[in-house]
Amino acid sequence: MLEPRPTRDGSYSLWSARFGEGFHCADGALNEARQVFVAPAELERFAQRQALTVLEVAVGTGTNTAALIEAVERQGLALHWWGLELDPAPLAMALANERFRAQWSPAVLQRLAALAGSDRLLWGDARTRLSELVEPLAGRCDLILMDAFSPRRCPELWSLDFLGELARLLAPGGRLITYSSAAAVRRALEVAGLQLAAVALPSISPAGPGRQGWSAGTVAAPTPLPTTGRLRPLRRMEREHMASRAGEPYRDPSGRASAAEILAARARAQARSGAEPSSAWERRWGIERRRAANGSREGLTAATSPGS
Ligand SMILES: C[S@@+](CC[C@H](N)C(=O)[O-])C[C@H]1O[C@@H](n2cnc3c(N)ncnc32)[C@H](O)[C@@H]1O
Repeated sequence: MLEPRPTRDGSYSLWSARFGEGFHCADGALNEARQVFVAPAELERFAQRQALTVLEVAVGTGTNTAALIEAVERQGLALHWWGLELDPAPLAMALANERFRAQWSPAVLQRLAALAGSDRLLWGDARTRLSELVEPLAGRCDLILMDAFSPRRCPELWSLDFLGELARLLAPGGRLITYSSAAAVRRALEVAGLQLAAVALPSISPAGPGRQGWSAGTVAAPTPLPTTGRLRPLRRMEREHMASRAGEPYRDPSGRASAAEILAARARAQARSGAEPSSAWERRWGIERRRAANGSREGLTAATSPGS
């Protein structure tokens, strides 16, 4: 069900046969963790020795966790961490793998292993376990790292309902950070009352071939986000994508629906919608429909449509 799959920067990753998707972008698990999840957190915003409250959704191999631990220690911050994950196997496989272990200092590995064995990591369906975190975390999270499989593969964790619950955990200056640029995800975050920015990667040339201005992810916050080297406002093209049928959110009011049920309900809502079809939006912006244009994880350097 899970196969090791090294990524282009040489770092450890896995492929899930069950979800039909890799755990990280093919360009590099480590690069992605550092550039897409940790850099947009802009940890320099926090005062030294401040305690950072973090929730990670979909901990997987712990690559994002380890990159966060590394950055938090470099910045002289304390870390109050919670994690949600369905399957203990990815983290166990990573911790037992030499390539993965070689990526980290002994101190980072030790901290990761300690978190893995602690009651701060809640195993099971994140939809049901999240309710246990409302009391300790409501209005307190400085960061939420949201790294579920893509919306088409794992719509359970991208619904208006689940993202709305995550939004309630954010502190006023907190940030939810995800690799996803999918229009439906962005619309749901906005419906949850959050302000949006795109993750900007300095390494991506905006003029490069096929680089149609896609970002490497999304940052959402209760208060307006600044434009920095790491964050930029959404472009008109992206706003119009959110307003098209591609922006129809996934819905799961019971918190128990299967992926197939959530996808079917969304397809029905899209068919009824008076919004512009996403194919028309693609034509207007001269965007080629790609085979993989389904909101799946984008490479750090390749730009694909973030999905319909
Ligand atoms: C893209 S991977 C996460 C990658 C991870 N952040 C890392 O650094 O390795 C998605 C993860 O979501 C988990 N997952 C899938 N459905 C879930 C659910 N309903 N609740 C909690 N976790 C889930 C999978 O087991 C998988 O580990």
